[in-house]
Amino acid sequence: MTRYVDLRSDTVTQPTSEMREAMANAEVGDDGFGEDPTIRALEEKFAALVGKDEALFVPSGVMANQIAVRVLTRPGDVIVAGRSQHVVSFEMGASARNSSVQFALVDDASGELALEDVMDVIDAEQDHQVHVAMVAVENTHMPSGGTPWNTRHLVSLARALDGRPIHMDGARLFNAAVATGEQPRDIAAPATTVMACLSKGLCAPVGSVLAGSQSLMSAARVERKRLGGTMRQAGVLAAAGLVALDTMVQRLGDDHARARRLADMFAAAFPESDYDPTTCRTNIVSFNHPQARQIVHELSELGVRGGTIAPRRVRFVTHAGVTDDDLDVVEEVLTSFAPMN
Ligand SMILES: Cc1ncc(COP(=O)(O)O)c(C=O)c1O
Repeated sequence: MTRYVDLRSDTVTQPTSEMREAMANAEVGDDGFGEDPTIRALEEKFAALVGKDEALFVPSGVMANQIAVRVLTRPGDVIVAGRSQHVVSFEMGASARNSSVQFALVDDASGELALEDVMDVIDAEQDHQVHVAMVAVENTHMPSGGTPWNTRHLVSLARALDGRPIHMDGARLFNAAVATGEQPRDIAAPATTVMACLSKGLCAPVGSVLAGSQSLMSAARVERKRLGGTMRQAGVLAAAGLVALDTMVQRLGDDHARARRLADMFAAAFPESDYDPTTCRTNIVSFNHPQARQIVHELSELGVRGGTIAPRRVRFVTHAGVTDDDLDVVEEVLTSFAPMN
């Protein structure tokens, strides 16, 4: 098999040996009856970490987002969100299909939503426009290059929303925490509901966790069932999630440092992209280039795999399976590749 450096996504990570051992020894029960002690332990741990009453273990990040949409909206409502966010662009129209809601899209090129843009949509309710049920934010914001939100900005937004809920897609919440040096509970405080994925940079094989108030999480349990997401002896999965939270958070800093090195390499190899490598603050290198698809294809032929997330936007992601030696390989490939531009 040809060896390649896999920078397609942090979802390609493998469970650690400690996770595999914890999975083999996990105490389990029927979670449909609330009887899986390992799932309960994971839910309690996550709820405490993000400072919410309760949490719910779900099979995927998409399901966590979709349950949040179900519990925070009614059919016909509007969600204000950034136009490139996962819940808008990468969930196959699930919010429309599952919850009969529509999005009011605002600019999110920087990774954040401008307060004025969000409040304009809400202000338009006075002009006979549709009810805004919630605001969805993504932290870190994947398409802009894994950008962490400025928590003070989010606090201002929550204050302006005056009780209207915010759902935080924190698929990479712990990347945001490591990059900013803030506690997950402080980052999540302005949000009504928050989810995080255990199966990306944290290397667990499966699972995400959604947290919020007791009443919202009771409603979320019903929606999880409706979406077919109630699992049974899934403590074998939650066991890996617990190891992920206990052992894999701090090491995300290594992924960030490697992504920054990668960002410098790409900025040097493709100066015409005007990519500013200092915008890379976590584990994602992403920039616009007119030949994005061709670049990804040709690099892949040379053993460096990445992807495109829009017609002219490339993305390369670091994770626990990427070493410094791998980056040396990428550097060599990019050096030979650059003159082709
Ligand atoms: C920002 C963001 N939200 C949600 C998800 C969905 O997670 P999952 O693939 O576990 O459904 C992803 C996955 O790539 C993501 O990047």
